[in-house]
Amino acid sequence: MTAEEQQQATPPAEEAAAAESGEQVITPWDVQGGADGKVDYNKLIEQFGVSSLTQDLVQRIERLTGRPAHPFLKRGIIFAHRDLHEILDCYERGEHFYLYTGRGPSSEALHLGHLVPIMFTQWLQEVFDVPLVIQLTDDEKTLWRGLEQAEARRLARENCKDIIACGFDVNKTFIFSDFEYVGGAFYRHIIDIQRCVSMNQVRGIFGLTQDDNIGKIGFPAVQAAPSFPGVFPHIFGDRKDVRCLIPCAIDQDPYFRMTRDVAPRLGYQKPALIEARFFPALQGESGKMSASDPNSAVFVNDSARQIKDKINKYAFSGGGATLEEHRSRGANLDIDVPWKYLNFFMEDDAKLAAIGREYGAGRMLTGEVKAELIALLTDIVGRHQQARTQVTEDIVDAFMAVRPMHSALKR
Ligand code: TYM
Ligand code: TRP
Repeated sequence: MTAEEQQQATPPAEEAAAAESGEQVITPWDVQGGADGKVDYNKLIEQFGVSSLTQDLVQRIERLTGRPAHPFLKRGIIFAHRDLHEILDCYERGEHFYLYTGRGPSSEALHLGHLVPIMFTQWLQEVFDVPLVIQLTDDEKTLWRGLEQAEARRLARENCKDIIACGFDVNKTFIFSDFEYVGGAFYRHIIDIQRCVSMNQVRGIFGLTQDDNIGKIGFPAVQAAPSFPGVFPHIFGDRKDVRCLIPCAIDQDPYFRMTRDVAPRLGYQKPALIEARFFPALQGESGKMSASDPNSAVFVNDSARQIKDKINKYAFSGGGATLEEHRSRGANLDIDVPWKYLNFFMEDDAKLAAIGREYGAGRMLTGEVKAELIALLTDIVGRHQQARTQVTEDIVDAFMAVRPMHSALKR
């Protein structure tokens, strides 16, 4: 086994034992914090073997693009990477790279957590001016969630509208559903990848058991394949040398450890990654916001009323138990969900710092911080909904059309 593979081998039994003993478990389907309920991101960096994204890399991105860094970068929300410096070297030499990200359509609308990698990807496309492919894994959700195919395909198209509403460049963006696009070069790459990975490896990486359906065993190759430019001849022609950068949250890393292992055997360079922390559930940092529990998440199709109710009712507060206690000790920002949400989405650095200072010192109350958050999220979600009404069926077809896109590679 290679070094990269050794880091991934956590058989299911061991994983269950780890969860019971209070160790954190992070897979593409399950996020459980450690003994204190929180995800330990430093430990995750070690466990997964990713590199931490240091401020000197952030500054290098600013220098190369001539643009101020995205708040997610400045605030450590995008916190880990694999080989990002190689992508930046490439860009500096004037060579091409492309972006690849995705979404597993399991709910009617995206939630705020899904917006994190999507918004960040949009920013990357804008500042680097590069082609982007977005995979909608309707097949994955049919295999894992028991969704009927027709429903998974419908959700993929609905989710696609949410994604387009985030502002991607139609001339440089190809969005595809697996049910529609598998075949041709895509399928040939899937088979090549499947030939390189044993059942034991998949079991080790993804914690599958003997009782899982056989589709799950084959699926990781479907998510791996778009990391290779050969899957998109309408964009890259027959070039095999275009490098790939994958923005995602850290839960998707296992797929790409596998992909990176296989890449050299297929004559490709390894895809690079740039990885986000989890946007926490309303109930607290024990996990990620999840689409399967509507009260854990704020969705982009929630009404102003729903946003207000969810934040007021469910957002876990680190404020003092009584007014006196709060005034004397201040809020515990480490566990306060409204504060964490503001850190993701409040763009104004000075205002954010002021709230942290006042709330942490007990001069601002939880109710006041929640009111700030409700106003902010209502605005973001309202603007998103407005943008989405502009996304017609024709526009969806335009993004999803297999069409010559060779000009997307021009800079
Ligand atoms: P999915 O639909 O579960 O999630 C879509 C993207 O959102 C990220 N994400 C989150 N980020 C921050 N906070 C959260 N609470 C949160 N929940 C989800 C995910 O990491 C992901 O980046 N199998 C994938 C679809 C996929 C994909 C890809 C994702 C296919 N190819 C390439 C990233 C890159 C899935 O079901 O994602
Ligand atoms: N895309 C432009 C060109 O083709 C400029 C360019 C090339 C560029 N390589 C670059 C800009 C590297 C920044 C970094 O000439």
